[in-house]
Amino acid sequence: MLEQFKKDVIEGLSKITQKTLPSKYFYDKKGDRLFVKITRLPEYYLTRAEMEIFQEKTSEIMAALHLEKGKKYSVVELGAGDGTKTIHLLRALIKRNCDFEYLPVDISINALEGIKKFLNAELPTLVVKPSHNDYFKALENLKQDGTIKIILFLGSNIGNLMDDHATEFIYQLGSSLYQGDKIILGVDLKKAKEIILPAYNDDQGITAAFNLNLLDRINKEFGSNFIRANFIHAPDYDEEEGIAKSYIKSLVKQTVTFQGHVFNFEKDELIHTEVSRKYDDQVVKQILSKTDITWEHKITDKNNLFADYILQRN
Ligand code: AVI
Repeated sequence: MLEQFKKDVIEGLSKITQKTLPSKYFYDKKGDRLFVKITRLPEYYLTRAEMEIFQEKTSEIMAALHLEKGKKYSVVELGAGDGTKTIHLLRALIKRNCDFEYLPVDISINALEGIKKFLNAELPTLVVKPSHNDYFKALENLKQDGTIKIILFLGSNIGNLMDDHATEFIYQLGSSLYQGDKIILGVDLKKAKEIILPAYNDDQGITAAFNLNLLDRINKEFGSNFIRANFIHAPDYDEEEGIAKSYIKSLVKQTVTFQGHVFNFEKDELIHTEVSRKYDDQVVKQILSKTDITWEHKITDKNNLFADYILQRN
């Protein structure tokens, strides 16, 4: 992990036209805490909108899943989350007497322990089997268990992948599943810049701290000398393209040393750190067209901010 991190930093900062640092490294302990704060910000509507779908449109989700009597199911959540959205679906499945187990998959043991504790307290009869694993390894282990899978990939987590990687991800997901298995894919929808940009540039500066924490993490883990005060958070949203992008902007001409490598930054030079893709039906169709997955149903919140697509493996 650390070797790969080092390689990614050197590769990203050596790029001539646009320096980059991957957003997957946002999530150290501090980054996890900041992300939880982001999800509660007034400007960050995504979590609330998807929560509304799970809370108020549970029966629509249930109907779209076309559950079959007498079959065994596995509800597999990729990225454990805190369980507050999923619990509405789990409750409905229990109420329907569906025979199922819940398997959250995450690379964070903390997240898995948290969700297990929460669900054991809230739904004592539910079997929770956390899997501390890579998503695809976890799915591989489950492939032959004879249950019908309901995969949850929520929170617009897919939005942090560029379209070619998102397609690859869905394709790989399809090859880990059997015909009839379902996916619930949560995505943020394209909308006006006036709504999206504040979600990535909140007034309290939490998103800025989240983005810039990457520099602190790199300093901490590799002893580099990024001076945090010399950089600012610089987000952007292009309505045409439908992608929110986060950058770290160098405020001055400066030099940073990382593991024996010297990186020069011009004043106002940008490091691209994250994409947050916003979807519409066309983008979803485009991505699914190259996979074995088809679109069954789409459920949105009342303000049409967010959508959960119910998909099926062919
Ligand atoms: C985790 N992911 C879906 C978040 C997003 O909206 O792209 C990460 C995030 N970045 C800045 N704010 C939130």
